Amino acid sequence: MAAYEYETHEYDVIIVGAGGAGLRATLGMAEQGLKTACITKVFPTRSHTVAAQGGIAASLSNMGPDNWQWHLYDTIKGSDWLGDTDAQEYLVREAPKAVYELEHYGVPFSRTEDGTIYQRPFGGHTTEFGEGPPVQRTCAAADRTGHAILHTLYGQSLKHNAEFYIEYFATDLIMSEDGICQGVIAWKLDDGTMHVFNAKMVVLATGGYGRAFFSATSAHTCTGDGNGMVVRAGLPLQDMEFVQFHPTGIYGSGCLITEGARGEGGYLTNSEGERFMERYAPTYKDLASRDVVSRCMTMEIRGGRGVGPNKDHIYLHLNHLPAEALAERLPGISESARIFAGVDLTKEPIPVLPTVHYNMGGIPTNYWGEVLNPTKDNPDAISPGLMAVGEAGCASVHGGNRLGSNSLIDLVVFGRAAAIKAAEVIDPKAANPTLNQASIDASFDRFDRFRYADGAISTAELRLEMQKTMQDDAAVFRTDKTLAEGVEKMKIVASKMTDIKVSDRSLVWNSDLMETLELDNLMPNAMATIVGAEARKESRGAHAHEDYPDRDDKNWRVHTLAHVNGADVKLSYRPVHTEPLTKEEDGGIDLKKIVPKKRVY
Ligand code: FUM
Repeated sequence: MAAYEYETHEYDVIIVGAGGAGLRATLGMAEQGLKTACITKVFPTRSHTVAAQGGIAASLSNMGPDNWQWHLYDTIKGSDWLGDTDAQEYLVREAPKAVYELEHYGVPFSRTEDGTIYQRPFGGHTTEFGEGPPVQRTCAAADRTGHAILHTLYGQSLKHNAEFYIEYFATDLIMSEDGICQGVIAWKLDDGTMHVFNAKMVVLATGGYGRAFFSATSAHTCTGDGNGMVVRAGLPLQDMEFVQFHPTGIYGSGCLITEGARGEGGYLTNSEGERFMERYAPTYKDLASRDVVSRCMTMEIRGGRGVGPNKDHIYLHLNHLPAEALAERLPGISESARIFAGVDLTKEPIPVLPTVHYNMGGIPTNYWGEVLNPTKDNPDAISPGLMAVGEAGCASVHGGNRLGSNSLIDLVVFGRAAAIKAAEVIDPKAANPTLNQASIDASFDRFDRFRYADGAISTAELRLEMQKTMQDDAAVFRTDKTLAEGVEKMKIVASKMTDIKVSDRSLVWNSDLMETLELDNLMPNAMATIVGAEARKESRGAHAHEDYPDRDDKNWRVHTLAHVNGADVKLSYRPVHTEPLTKEEDGGIDLKKIVPKKRVY
């Protein structure tokens, strides 16, 4: 058994991750008087939310008529009828409140002439239950909305005396013998010390796992760490086959060009100069939902109408818009286009390509953020002591496909919901749990195994094998053949984790070891994704299966659950919640409006 000395800390709540969801949960918990600490592997304002550009969706009606029922309809349709309707209603109803809270906390939103929050159009957001024109629903702070939110929430969390453990890498959950989460173990990166955090509630806000793929808009830190911890605790992941490709990653670097660019009037063209989206989505054109636009771009490239010497990408035009508007509304992407594509977007189009951007799947939760451990008798059974929010969680509001700007609102609404729930279930006067030493020892054993790993393949080599396999075989379009081959390749890749080589044995700033632990988190995410995709014999949202081009609600309107153990993945399914929270007669959505139908834009 590996012997590591450690320091023990006691809190009511430990939040792991300091992105938008983690900080909103941290702030909410601290505001309510819970003894709260947030552990984060990067400085809070460097969390990936900082990269969120275009905005946060809420039906404020600042730019024209809007209401939560229209937002709910768009979210359900966007999810391709795989989202849980109760959670979706909670999201859209709480959204305006959550945005006004952000405003009052100090988020510097862009303003309209009359001083209200500026809102722009985003893909898939409409009026009149998809029958009217696009709606301006996405509240923006220029094209640096995530940056603005993150800095504000960090400041507010400090003001409310939340404590931060910065550059601590959380390695494992501490689980009691009867499956209650009791805390988390973390490695302090700058001095190599080990820490055990004893908590009445652990909230995982660790973000997505975009880095399981070769080209992603996600930061290199997006390694699905919370998902990895949950898998090792024997809990399932949900709907992992649904991976969103953002239509406009910069060709080559993958750097994000916000959908707000199309919201402000940008459009896509192929090698013939044609605005091809008019053909595929006659009503909403370039503002169709992301999965649709990404597929259309891919079809244009496959049809030989891609641009550039290799005809392998598409142009995004903003050069017809006034330079002052670009400078005011889209300053960040003006800079990104110059740095990463060498393009002056006031004069030339930006070369773009669909790029992995978001994971709809994650740790299954209810709309209070409580983690689920479904059983045969109870598909909504709760795993005590554990919550998950943000991209790590799967509530599930996004189902098969997320609408742009529904992510930032998901972070703050569910971060806030977790805090409301935690204040109900946690007794600050109660004693902290007696920790299960076997769970702590097992975690140190795993850590030590990797620290002294002396196999034949380096972490960087194995990570690249995983990323290339996922990029090729779990792509925008999938077939039985690519998926079956992908599963076999990924089984071999995952099994090589036992043959990994780590060269640095130290404990201080050991990035080799940290990247290995991150890879050990990415691997079960990748396995669950490709195995779940191979099993799902239909097309829905971001899962575009060429051998099964239609959605099959009779057999597949179900959430996938994946229990992962190394290269072995066991799948099961749980029902989708199809009932909204509010009855129609009490002002809820007209149920006829949300009956599943063909999804056209
Ligand atoms: O395009 C964007 O600005 C991204 C927004 C989102 O993913 O919600």
